[in-house]
Amino acid sequence: MIYLQLENITKLFGSFVANDNISLSVEAGKIHAILGENGAGKTTLMNIISGLYQPDSGQIYLEEKPVNITSPNEAIKLGIGMIHQHFMLIPQLTVTENIILGRENNWRLNIRQKQQEIAALSQAYQLEVDPTVKVENLPVGTQQRVEILKVLYRQAKLLILDEPTAVLTPPEVASLIVILRQLAAKGNTIIFISHKLEEVMHLCDTVTVLRRGKVVATTTTKNTTTQQLAELMVGREVILNLSKSPPSPGKVILSVQGLQVADDRKMIAVRDVSFQLRAGEVLGIAGVDGNGQRELADAIASLRTVKQGKIDLLHPTPASEERLRVAYIPEDRQKTGLVLQFSIAQNLILKSFTKLPFCRYFWLQQQAIANYAKSAMQNFDIRATGEDVQVSQLSGGNQQKVVLARELTPAPALIVAMQPTRGLDVGATEAVHLRLLTERDRGAAILYISTELEEVMAISDRIAVIYRGEFVDILDAQTATVEEIGLLMAGSRKQ
Ligand SMILES: Nc1ncnc2c1ncn2[C@@H]1O[C@H](COP(=O)(O)OP(=O)(O)O)[C@@H](O)[C@H]1O
Ligand SMILES: [Mg+2]
Repeated sequence: MIYLQLENITKLFGSFVANDNISLSVEAGKIHAILGENGAGKTTLMNIISGLYQPDSGQIYLEEKPVNITSPNEAIKLGIGMIHQHFMLIPQLTVTENIILGRENNWRLNIRQKQQEIAALSQAYQLEVDPTVKVENLPVGTQQRVEILKVLYRQAKLLILDEPTAVLTPPEVASLIVILRQLAAKGNTIIFISHKLEEVMHLCDTVTVLRRGKVVATTTTKNTTTQQLAELMVGREVILNLSKSPPSPGKVILSVQGLQVADDRKMIAVRDVSFQLRAGEVLGIAGVDGNGQRELADAIASLRTVKQGKIDLLHPTPASEERLRVAYIPEDRQKTGLVLQFSIAQNLILKSFTKLPFCRYFWLQQQAIANYAKSAMQNFDIRATGEDVQVSQLSGGNQQKVVLARELTPAPALIVAMQPTRGLDVGATEAVHLRLLTERDRGAAILYISTELEEVMAISDRIAVIYRGEFVDILDAQTATVEEIGLLMAGSRKQ
């Protein structure tokens, strides 16, 4: 039976078409993926189903009857429950209070009884959580369970999860998958939003791919491959498995010993970290967000003071007088990586505008700057109508290419890349990876920090796992497994 059917749904924001004539059907009791790059229109479509937005045209059917979902409350009444990308729980309230919020306006509310009800519900669905604890004290994975319980408490039959795995550790992802399978087995219908192909293939029955607001395909996961799905998402051929030449590590470029770094609140964020990084090698750092990665990267890029220990940058040619060139690709390209109001050309010379040929006798040489920018745009495939375009107008992928173009010329000896593909689509991610691998093969030492484990595994030669500011282990990327690293990321130490 078809549980949910969308017919020609269109949604405009001003003149921008976020959802363009979308039709799709979701079968009852199935897990249906909506896959698409950032900006494809996934969240907009889900907001329409959950009553947050009204479509400009089109019709929604639930169990084959036309419905008008005029508000989130109406959606709840119809049995539609949405779990948003950014959780909407109130941290200061308990699990029970959060779950019943907005439902019980009874002045004789018996909280003990509600707690028991929720305990029973959590048992029935094997969604382990203590109903009396405050939400702010729960790990993210458990907060997500509370969100799921909340929609189940409201008797949702259709559960929509918007990029639910983005915030989870690999063990939390595994347990969410078990939970979702169970919900489907009990007859719930699930829409699972993601831009991660493996997850979709592993968990879902069917998948609809969106690109630029349009449905480009709907298929069962049995009848497709990750490669096909990637190409549907991006609209051209993509390289999923990075093919790397074997590493040929050279001299040690970076040596870190007993490093301790504090965070902004003066708490120790990096404790006793030691490692060496060689020319021509990528050392990946895997870890859940907030385990000291930021502070470590900042310290190596000389942006944060070292509390204890040493960071040595060693010149590949000892006689050289020049300072070792360090490239830094910061986590937040919009805040730290670029000056958004400046043009592409201006951003490209941020570190060199006082030097020849860009500056002569205190005068900026506009022609030289423009010529330089034009060739950088070509080399790094920065797509814009000209070098004078403000970077604020570029897509995320093109903005990141501007950062890369600036940081990688002239060629650096060490590259610190912090989440360099965050928020980028498959195509732009591919471009960033290929560029960094070229740098590695040229002889750059690369420190690659990311919370996306698959990515770290694909690009690295060795992988350090960081947990609570410490390196739990450093593994050979050739032989390390996802399971092994996943456990280390969650804090279980290797024996
Ligand atoms: N409230 C809004 N106002 C204007 N534009 C929006 C709004 N919400 C989304 N968009 C635009 O619609 C497009 C699709 O966004 P979204 O549905 O969030 O994509 P996805 O969830 O697939 O990443 C994006 O280009 C986004 O900038
Ligand atoms: Mg979204």
